[in-house]
Amino acid sequence: MARKIAVIGGSGVYDIDGLQDAEWKTVHSPWGTPSDQVLTGTLDGTAMVFLPRHGRGHVHSPSTVPYRANIDVLKRLGATDIVSVSACGSFREELAPGDFVVIDQFIDRTFAREKSFFGTGCVAHVSVAHPTCPRLSGACLSAGLDAGITMHDGGTYLAMEGPQFSSLAESRLYRDVWGCDVIGMTNMPEAKLAREAELCYASVAMITDYDSWHPDHGAVDITDIVATLKGNADKARALVTRLPALLGAHVPCSDGCDRALDYAILTGPDA
Ligand code: ADE
Repeated sequence: MARKIAVIGGSGVYDIDGLQDAEWKTVHSPWGTPSDQVLTGTLDGTAMVFLPRHGRGHVHSPSTVPYRANIDVLKRLGATDIVSVSACGSFREELAPGDFVVIDQFIDRTFAREKSFFGTGCVAHVSVAHPTCPRLSGACLSAGLDAGITMHDGGTYLAMEGPQFSSLAESRLYRDVWGCDVIGMTNMPEAKLAREAELCYASVAMITDYDSWHPDHGAVDITDIVATLKGNADKARALVTRLPALLGAHVPCSDGCDRALDYAILTGPDA
């Protein structure tokens, strides 16, 4: 199996640079209509797929992103790795707007989304104790450092439903009591579905603001976020173009992301 790197682009990231034979393609899924067409091509000889999470034109809110269809079309296209790129708020002084964090843990507070490919008839419980792929995350870290980005290795991402930002009390709870590092609205259930689809998943969180806890910064303001997003998107593109050379040829995942279902299925459809 050849490596195929999929990139799911968040707010402000609607394509990737330097793709050869780039083509937008419609891919159908029994799980619904994905956020948009997918952009396919090659980068340094490695097959790439890009999907804008919110659609070009930013038509899907975090709650209406068709997460299952998105992961499914990437799987159908033969993706082996998914790199998620998304905007987030920071709970730490040292994680400043413009910095990137390679996430390694999540707290999932979303509640209005379909979260599994499994359900009635076919029941499976995959482990998400370690929801991201260490090897792919490491490559994202190296790629970002190489691109001159201020990168942070590891962090806990609070996934909230939105679309409103957090109250001050929520922001303090997530930061002071739960020990979260960043907050965003889109990485869940995406990461869980990638695991169910046996795909390696890494999350690069691009900091746009200090959420609402910071005494020197007011409430989160979408105009400030959009201003930071532009610079972040250019950095994200620079990171992505370095991934093929860093990842090299495809090998089975040493952490077993690609075998997540081996012992997870409890009830088959014929049970
Ligand atoms: N995305 C960017 N900034 C955010 C914040 N403060 N909260 C939730 N999602 C975000």
